[in-house]
Amino acid sequence: MPCTPERKPGVGCLAEVPGCRGQRSYDRTVSDPSIPPFPPGFSWGVATAAFQIEGAVAEDGRGDSVWDTFCRQPGVIRDGQTGDIAADHYHRWPEDIALMARLGIGTYRFSLAWPRIQPAGSGAVNLPGLDFYDRLTDALLAEGINPMPTLYHWDLPQPLEDDGGWMARDTAYRFADYAVIAAERLADRIPTWITLNEPFVVTAFGYALGGHAPGKALMLDALATAHHQLLGHGLANAALRAAGVREVAITNNYSPVWAASDDPADLEAAAAYDALHNRTFTDPILLSSYPATLSAFGVGPDGPDCVHDGDLAIISAPVDALGVNYYNPTKISAPVSDAPPASAPPEPSLPFQFEPITGYPVTAFGWPVVPAGLTEMLTTLAGRYGAKLPPVYITENGCSVADEPDDFGEIDDQPRIRYLDGHIRAVADAMAAGVDVRGYLVWTLMDNFEWAEGYHQRFGLVHVDFDSQRRTPKSSFGWYRDLIASQAGRQP
Ligand code: FCB
Repeated sequence: MPCTPERKPGVGCLAEVPGCRGQRSYDRTVSDPSIPPFPPGFSWGVATAAFQIEGAVAEDGRGDSVWDTFCRQPGVIRDGQTGDIAADHYHRWPEDIALMARLGIGTYRFSLAWPRIQPAGSGAVNLPGLDFYDRLTDALLAEGINPMPTLYHWDLPQPLEDDGGWMARDTAYRFADYAVIAAERLADRIPTWITLNEPFVVTAFGYALGGHAPGKALMLDALATAHHQLLGHGLANAALRAAGVREVAITNNYSPVWAASDDPADLEAAAAYDALHNRTFTDPILLSSYPATLSAFGVGPDGPDCVHDGDLAIISAPVDALGVNYYNPTKISAPVSDAPPASAPPEPSLPFQFEPITGYPVTAFGWPVVPAGLTEMLTTLAGRYGAKLPPVYITENGCSVADEPDDFGEIDDQPRIRYLDGHIRAVADAMAAGVDVRGYLVWTLMDNFEWAEGYHQRFGLVHVDFDSQRRTPKSSFGWYRDLIASQAGRQP
């Protein structure tokens, strides 16, 4: 692609063309007024997940995950798409690390594929799988990028699911065993590890409703998977430290919950949803108890029935950081209690219902864009947990945009720039209010497999043509690169 004067003004050229330095207009995309300075040492980065980018699902001894199996079921993924190739990162990782180096990030959050490292989820270790992450780690460090692995970003080995998956207590112990295998290979070079990504989503979409793998629709019975994941986190926390890991964190997706009105019924419904979404995956870790408001779901004060004596002590071992993924708030009202006709089968009833959030821009996914919701969530966490809240990393934040190259092959994703700009300012606001935030990681480096949406939602700073696997940095890539560069050396 030539870098010529007739190219559209206002959009940078990052093509790998001699003489085209990719600088033409990106410098003008730094925000005005500029984003306030963040403290020295604040980590800027990007996040990805193995199943969404790696592909190579049958290579070098990798086993099936629940997502491989799920994708094979007709009708569950948009247009029947799969993660078989994804962004082909398993083969193109040097190019992807070169992109990260051009961005100038300090931290790269990625996930390790359990079925690549331990294909059956227990027993034999697959050395080529470990070798892949070993090479990746060394290449990141060579570029001065700090690797931050997540052990579990939803790709449970299928044989474990066949034995009950996260409904089975034993899976928590298998997870800790796998954590040791990974840490024994990589902990010498990687200080900070994340155990789980968004266990709420696994429980809600994977096991309660079934829109995600493994596609179970167990409704409230799925709460056992919340406890077993938390137990897995606690067991892995201890195992990682024993294997030499210095810092352990967990990542949750948080959503400020807005009651639809001040009506006591709506407030109660909002508190119930907040318990389920936000508190269930945080209170046990930071307060060593399940939230009392889970009673709205028939849960007793000691948590789900599957809790054993001693579990909460394991789960509440100290963590060094809390990963916060934020996308949007949630609005909740009391359920409408229309009595079903006598002939209708009994429906499991939930003590809340979702309401649309109107009056905000929406992403291509239809998610409302509410930067202030991130400030609200962070200050809520700080108020709720006080001194027990560890330092926070924003481990995911970003948006999908209907990005397609224009006639010049460029992707001018101004909505993403506005989104990131607003949310980074929202982080600054929370920090000004006293919340200890240490880093901000954009979801995501490059377009990828967006779960049940297949390749239809593009969240990347880098566009991926999934036919050719060509990577093209979007305008937001240059914007973020310039933001990171402009933050270096600035003092708050
Ligand atoms: C989060 C997931 C991540 C990605 C973003 C859009 O919930 O952790 O994998 O799909 O949403």
